[in-house]
Amino acid sequence: MDQAEKLRQIVNELRERQRASLQKGRIITVTSGKGGVGKTNFTLNCAIALNSMGHRTLIIDADFGLSNIDVMLGMIPRYNLFHVITNKKSIEEVIVEGPCGIRFIAGGSGIWELLNLSTQDMEVLMKQLERLDDLADIIMIDTGAGVSDKVIRMILAANEAIVITTPEPTSVTDAYALVKSVVTIKKDMSLRVVVNRAESAQEATDVMDKFIRVVERFLDVKLEPLGYILYDDAVVKATKRQRPFVLEYPRSHASRQVYTMAHAIVAGERADVGEAQGFRGYVNQFLKLLDFKRKAL
Ligand SMILES: Nc1ncnc2c1ncn2[C@@H]1O[C@H](COP(=O)(O)OP(=O)(O)O)[C@@H](O)[C@H]1O
Ligand SMILES: [Mg+2]
Repeated sequence: MDQAEKLRQIVNELRERQRASLQKGRIITVTSGKGGVGKTNFTLNCAIALNSMGHRTLIIDADFGLSNIDVMLGMIPRYNLFHVITNKKSIEEVIVEGPCGIRFIAGGSGIWELLNLSTQDMEVLMKQLERLDDLADIIMIDTGAGVSDKVIRMILAANEAIVITTPEPTSVTDAYALVKSVVTIKKDMSLRVVVNRAESAQEATDVMDKFIRVVERFLDVKLEPLGYILYDDAVVKATKRQRPFVLEYPRSHASRQVYTMAHAIVAGERADVGEAQGFRGYVNQFLKLLDFKRKAL
């Protein structure tokens, strides 16, 4: 083998390795301290924006509260993650396709069923879940609100999270409590902030700056601003029609802001989060955290 051929081989191997690591999905949780701040709207519309930009995006709806992804789309999924975990359906069978090719999986009580699985069942399940990495480049998880153990663990298992708050003081203080719970356990977490339902760009910027400053001062952690959305009637109208606002009102302020943020999410890819963990990696992390919890008890 001559020198050139050896080099070619090395380059090919590197490419192959890079391709393999790119195939792992990026897992991003979307969360908030308080409910009703626009998490589900953001997740759904941002996922559609990412999808239309060529980044295959899949949503996992892990919020057990009201106004979930299915309601927002006026769809009723027949199966959810529970059916995969209890080995009744394959992962492909529980994926629901919505408008514009957006795909989502209803969480149901699925994730928490993981606790009841034997090691053997777990292996079978992992093989199923792993397949999501072939189906999506980005997996967005709508976690639901609050500082409950459940939500915190869902956030901690991922490398990246987007925290949504409105300018209301209660929403901001709840977001602070959430960030605190997360970073006291995992300081190197990539956390980005979205201010939603602001009255003006000025208000959004003020809230963002203040929040980031307070977190840096008291928790010694640097949050990244992702962007803001003003209060926009287009969101309200689209919600009533059970249609995503980026599709119903593509020229609205909210839609433009969501696209700007989707671009920022892609631009920030792996800059500060290392290699994509993939869904298997996510579930593994999640289980380790549960183990930890069980041992602690
Ligand atoms: N930027 C916005 N402007 C106006 N209304 C909004 C905006 N974002 C969200 N909403 C409204 O707020 C309510 C809660 O949004 P939702 O996405 O369900 O919040 P969460 O998932 O955090 O509970 C919905 O009725 C939605 O239409
Ligand atoms: Mg919601």
